[in-house]
Amino acid sequence: MPAVRLETEDDFDGWRAAARALAIEGVAPEQVVWQVGDHASDLFANPGGDRAPPLPTITPLRVSKPFLELARDAALHSEPERFSLLYTLLLRLLNRPQALEDRADPLIRRIEGLARNVRRDSHKMHAFVRFRELADGDGSRFVAWFEPEHHILRANAGFFVDRFTNMRWSILTPRGSLHWDGAVLKEGPPATRADAPGDDPVEGIWKAYYSAIFNPARVMPRAMLKEMPRKYWKNMPETALVPELIAGARKRELGMIEQARSTPVRGRGPESLVLLAEEAAGCRRCPLWRPATQTVFGEGPHDAEIMIVGEQPGDQEDLAGRPFVGPAGDVFDRAMAEAGIDRMRAYVTNAVKHFKFEPQGKRRLHARPNVGEIEACRWWVDQERAIVRPRLVIAMGATAARSLTGRAVAVGQERGRAVPLPDGTPCWVTVHPSYLLRLPPEADTEAEFARYVADLRGAAASLSAMTS
Ligand code: URA
Repeated sequence: MPAVRLETEDDFDGWRAAARALAIEGVAPEQVVWQVGDHASDLFANPGGDRAPPLPTITPLRVSKPFLELARDAALHSEPERFSLLYTLLLRLLNRPQALEDRADPLIRRIEGLARNVRRDSHKMHAFVRFRELADGDGSRFVAWFEPEHHILRANAGFFVDRFTNMRWSILTPRGSLHWDGAVLKEGPPATRADAPGDDPVEGIWKAYYSAIFNPARVMPRAMLKEMPRKYWKNMPETALVPELIAGARKRELGMIEQARSTPVRGRGPESLVLLAEEAAGCRRCPLWRPATQTVFGEGPHDAEIMIVGEQPGDQEDLAGRPFVGPAGDVFDRAMAEAGIDRMRAYVTNAVKHFKFEPQGKRRLHARPNVGEIEACRWWVDQERAIVRPRLVIAMGATAARSLTGRAVAVGQERGRAVPLPDGTPCWVTVHPSYLLRLPPEADTEAEFARYVADLRGAAASLSAMTS
């Protein structure tokens, strides 16, 4: 039975090379033993072992980018079977490339779950690593202790090098350590918590920073526990401030709601939107993130005059990670063109950033977000609006209208005219493009489409009137 020895737990390139060689040889998944480190036997130690019947010839080997991206993440999971699962999937895809689209397939779901856990672990590392200052022979070194759940340390080194290029730092973990001296990154052995320093003056800086950015509107203690498991709390000086901050939160929230309307918290440059989108990628404000593939954030210029809000990503958007790229997006694009609005110049987003669906066989059927989910995601929509500061917003459908206005809106009655939002921004309400896709056969589809276009055109014309 071939035994493959990979150099390290995160040796994706090693897995890839070996998997390729095995696939060309026609070795079946159950014939391969995947091992990591020195205790394993040599690569293909027993190449003539219990060889399975050859698979169909599949050279040259070509795999899709989505598979490689998925595999690269899943390979960092601490699940011992991950390399074997990936090899099984690889063989399946070589025979049937479209199999990756079968999202109900248990193997694909499992591997996607692994990849998702790894991405979440990386997000936690970015968010929760806290450096403490130590004086060493050459001056200051900043040292952090972190306990990743998966083999993510090396994969995330670049993030910390980019963020803290001018500092000398070390990140110690039970799985290994990283040391940066301002020019060269070195890897070191696993560490223990005792190797990392405790309290020191740098904590004061973190506490001040945290108080300044603490957003009381985001206080959701139960969600915080999920998002920031207790095991990380002890590494984080600012958590000592949490009870105090929560106590004053409501009062500060009311003040902030007022202020947020006129003063974006994050500045207004394109980088603000990029940072916001990065943050949203790890959003756990409601349970919709769990079955979804990814957060689908808004896109468009950071200073767009028009912001257009839909309901939630659909199946295709969930896979592509971009809003309005599926069938509803086709209707939307056509209507925008007819209304004379350049989509590229608008900021297009959704009220809810994760795809909510009911699995039915291999299909994922759209399910309408509930009020709690709309409210949970409203925080992102408010932030997007605070950064972009559009002169006009268009709510497509009842979910978007609820998110923007904070109340239930009867679209049929309020469409085609502006409703002022509390900060004065005119909000135009119209139907959602999916409404046009679901019209009954007896409906006058052309007339409904023309009405939708007229709503969009009316909104655009009001903007021109505001400008002239
Ligand atoms: N429907 C929406 O509301 N948004 C999308 O991005 C796609 C379909």
